[in-house]
Amino acid sequence: MSDYDALIAAAKLARENAHAHFSKFKVGAALRTASGRIFGGCNVENATYGLTVCAERVAIFKAISEGEKRFKAIAVVTDTDRLTPPCGACRQLIWEFCGDVPVVMANLKGKIEVLRMRELFPRPFDSSNL
Ligand code: THU
Repeated sequence: MSDYDALIAAAKLARENAHAHFSKFKVGAALRTASGRIFGGCNVENATYGLTVCAERVAIFKAISEGEKRFKAIAVVTDTDRLTPPCGACRQLIWEFCGDVPVVMANLKGKIEVLRMRELFPRPFDSSNL
């Protein structure tokens, strides 16, 4: 049992709700708060394509909108042999809202890799630059 099992399980569950009719690429994410709560998210696509929101951002916005402010880790689950890292837009928001958290990438076969945000997003632009 890894520390991240519950987080990965929540991301898998959220992935089941992915609204990915256009790309067929279903993504699940789960965000653990400092208080131990877990918020899931899935990608939500629509006919304009451009208004798509990634699973990671859905999880972050759900948590923020529920008053959460401090986060411990985020998981991303897809059904691919090559694990899926967060896209550039999500890296920006994960960095700004969660800081240097572990990003747990996993697939449905049990493959797992953990990288910290610092590794995925070196030299970020954030409020410290303003
Ligand atoms: N997607 C995510 O939800 N998270 C990622 O980390 C990568 C990409 C979604 C966006 C779109 O619905 C689909 O995957 C294909 O890009």
